[in-house]
Amino acid sequence: MDQYLVFGNPIAQSKSPFIHTLFARQTAQQMEYKAQQPELGQFQSQVAAFFQAGGRGCNITAPFKEEAYQFANQLTERAKLAGAVNTLKKLDDGVILGDNTDGEGLVQDLLQHQVALAGKRILLVGAGGAARGVILPLLAQQPSELVITNRTVTKAQQLAELFATYGNIHAAPMTTLADQAFDVIINSTSAGLSGQLPALPASLIQPHTTCYDMVYSAQTTAFNQWAKDLGAKCVLDGLGMLVGQAAESFMLWRGIRPSAKQVQRELRMQLL
Ligand code: ATR
Repeated sequence: MDQYLVFGNPIAQSKSPFIHTLFARQTAQQMEYKAQQPELGQFQSQVAAFFQAGGRGCNITAPFKEEAYQFANQLTERAKLAGAVNTLKKLDDGVILGDNTDGEGLVQDLLQHQVALAGKRILLVGAGGAARGVILPLLAQQPSELVITNRTVTKAQQLAELFATYGNIHAAPMTTLADQAFDVIINSTSAGLSGQLPALPASLIQPHTTCYDMVYSAQTTAFNQWAKDLGAKCVLDGLGMLVGQAAESFMLWRGIRPSAKQVQRELRMQLL
């Protein structure tokens, strides 16, 4: 049976084996998907051993996405620009292809929720690895403008420069956003993990604003609660992005697009 893995440390919390097992059932694919936790410094040797033993593909989560980028023999453009790889696939000629499906997972989740992106003004909050991974797929939707803001503004400026030739993208300090309006605001910061909120002006949240938090939890996330209290039109969390990126990886490996909806429903029920 075709073997797939997710590598991460820690990995026990990963939903990927559950998601891909459901996708495989849905699409009648003969495959097995497990989880593996390399010690730090052991990723490269373990992923090499996996492919040598006939492994067909794997997902990579924290903290190995940059090492997976180094490991790949060939990279998709979105992986190159993300600087990180969350999906590896062994091609027929033995070449290991590195891809990054995180951004497309986000875009597909937004579109499935009828959140339009084309011609819209989008604010991306945060300028770390999570932000970098979603910029190209967001720009590919041709928003009227993508503004990136960050606590450390120089990092937002660096990202805006890196992607300048791919679309209308600019950096802005949080303090200059008070009189601005956005259709979609995406939080990619890890502030919520320490119970904090990015220092955004409350006036950003208007009745037509959709907010998306790239993390998810059983309860409404701190960022989404903040947006909801201020009257946002709609708030979404990153559970759909998780399933969306998995669906993109599955598509790359198997050439079949699974349905994300049913899996998302089941995962949400598990969380509660
Ligand atoms: P990831 O890979 O999850 O993006 P990262 O590369 O460490 O992780 O980036 C974390 C992001 O969250 C950064 O944009 C960081 O802002 P700084 O660049 O100023 O550090 C942001 N972040 C983390 N804690 C934050 C907080 N309390 N308020 C605002 N932004 C925060």
